[in-house]
Amino acid sequence: MKDAFGIPQSLLVLGGTSEIALATVRRLVVRRTRTVWLAGRPSPGLESAATELRALGAEVRTLAFDALDPESHEAVLGKVFAEGDIDMVLLAFGILGDQAHDEREPVAAVRVAQTNYTGAVSAGLVSARALQTQGHGSLVVLSSVAGERARRADFIYGSSKAGLDVFAQGLGDALHGTGVHVMVVRPGFVRSRMTAGLEEAPLATTPEAVATAIELGLRRRSETVWVPGALRVVMSAVRHLPRALVRRLPL
Ligand SMILES: NC(=O)c1ccc[n+]([C@@H]2O[C@H](COP(=O)([O-])OP(=O)(O)OC[C@H]3O[C@@H](n4cnc5c(N)ncnc54)[C@H](OP(=O)(O)O)[C@@H]3O)[C@@H](O)[C@H]2O)c1
Repeated sequence: MKDAFGIPQSLLVLGGTSEIALATVRRLVVRRTRTVWLAGRPSPGLESAATELRALGAEVRTLAFDALDPESHEAVLGKVFAEGDIDMVLLAFGILGDQAHDEREPVAAVRVAQTNYTGAVSAGLVSARALQTQGHGSLVVLSSVAGERARRADFIYGSSKAGLDVFAQGLGDALHGTGVHVMVVRPGFVRSRMTAGLEEAPLATTPEAVATAIELGLRRRSETVWVPGALRVVMSAVRHLPRALVRRLPL
């Protein structure tokens, strides 16, 4: 169960090597989280992330999870929930893709959509049902400001995040009053493996800052979290700009 401050004791990460997810888990383990499941594609990185978290005092298990294999999600995630209650599921997997390449190779573009959107629809529904069955818990979904407005530079990724964001909002509404809380996290540019080598966008932030915002959001039981918070105001303005103007912005 979560403590009185909303910090989970047990946590399942989908996308167990994500830098944002691992910064969040480190932060929560220092607070109270004791049991961590890292679900992801099997790799040395997944195992070393588990080793690092064990050194902080958490009991950590890894399991094979592939967002691109939705048929397996029920069985894979079912095993985790069968072992005991999970207070928080962090849906962190995602790929950025390569916009220019993916425009030329539609199959690659579909892979972005299938990972970020349909993979999350499947894993999100399976997790939500399990949380609802136990009667409590949070589903924290890493969306992105990229889903707020189409941008020439990354609209394939952005459209997948727009779908994910609306899906997660609706899921939160569907679960309202059930004891299960869905929190949509919308970071801007985060300096992580995903953005390595890319030119930084304004208001760039860090995985640790996202982790801090997630912890605060859990304590407040927020439904939406922007990182940094100033992006909420910036994006509400950007959302209403005329398209002709957005096309000329260096976004
Ligand atoms: N970095 C940013 O600027 C930024 C901004 C806004 C939102 N986000 C979102 O935040 C989340 C985490 O991003 P990050 O910055 O922490 O990037 P990251 O370190 O590259 O993490 C991405 C994660 O997704 C996993 N993944 C990719 N394809 C998968 C699949 N088919 N099945 C299972 N796992 C898969 C990766 O696992 P492998 O180790 O197997 O590759 C990795 O754990 C993503 O959803 C991203 O879209 C990031």
